[in-house]
Amino acid sequence: GGPRFKLDHGAEIPAIGLGTWQSKAGEVEAAVAYAIKEAGYRAIDCAWAYGNEKEVGEGIRASGVPRSDIFITSKLWGTWHSRVEECLDQTLANLGTDYLDLYLVHWPVPLNPKGNHPVFPTLSSGKRDVDHDWLLKDTWKQMEAVLKKGKVKSIGVSNFSESKLNEILPTAEIIPAVNQLEIHIYNPQHKLVAFNKSKGIVTQAYSPLGSTNSPLLADEIAVEIAKKHSLQPADVLLGYLIAKGIVVLPKSVTPARIASNFTGALAGAEKLDTLDIEKLDGLAANGKQKRFITPPWPVELGFEHWPPL
Ligand code: A2P
Repeated sequence: GGPRFKLDHGAEIPAIGLGTWQSKAGEVEAAVAYAIKEAGYRAIDCAWAYGNEKEVGEGIRASGVPRSDIFITSKLWGTWHSRVEECLDQTLANLGTDYLDLYLVHWPVPLNPKGNHPVFPTLSSGKRDVDHDWLLKDTWKQMEAVLKKGKVKSIGVSNFSESKLNEILPTAEIIPAVNQLEIHIYNPQHKLVAFNKSKGIVTQAYSPLGSTNSPLLADEIAVEIAKKHSLQPADVLLGYLIAKGIVVLPKSVTPARIASNFTGALAGAEKLDTLDIEKLDGLAANGKQKRFITPPWPVELGFEHWPPL
């Protein structure tokens, strides 16, 4: 199952997990089963909002590997911030399991639960229908409650800036175990990763390869480092993050890529030297800063630093 990182409260999380965002229902079951059965993955990253959890669950069962050997993560969608357990119950039923290893607040943006759309409620003005009265610290209380009930083993957040984390940390009984962020060589978020670390929060990287049609795989420095170590560029992108203690969640529905991302990430983490890592660390500051994911929310909700400097 590959290397694992320690979470603050003692649980362990695999350093590599399979991403499932944008994996179509028709292909994700086979991808998940292949990843677990053939490619060595022991962690799957899901979300209620991805709309494919049923098929992910079928893939997990089709792998034949016991549930207890697999680390399953899912995420609470914005329209459910005031009803955490209900969203979680839907996810558990979708996946066909009675607990999650990790449950994340998907975005620090509570949305109107009675709005005009279950995923993206929108006002007639065209603005996102955000629940401005709901406090994130109350979402977090409910996250703590489902943890105490035993429905999830760890709780965390996703897409939280330092200021958003500071909306929950002062009243949190349980510190978020992880903060899942868009992290890759062009968006390394060094400051936020260091802040996470200072609080005992493990960072997870989504879109570690730069998402669809990524220019990262052709980055000159990444290609040069790959050649030097007889690796593929993807191995360098993933290995770089693992070497820095960041969990990677590469998404693929292509068997050959699912397999090579796993073995390649481990080879990359082993082979990259400090000079390679320094070079990759410096890319964003040297004019390559770029994000690939645009949040579906306005900047006044705390995304003014998106992209960060
Ligand atoms: P596919 O799923 O068709 O294999 P990210 O994890 O950064 O979001 O990137 C996911 C995207 O990168 C998907 O489009 C996926 O395509 C593609 N991808 C995944 N692994 C590789 C790889 N090793 N080489 C090239 N493209 C890849």
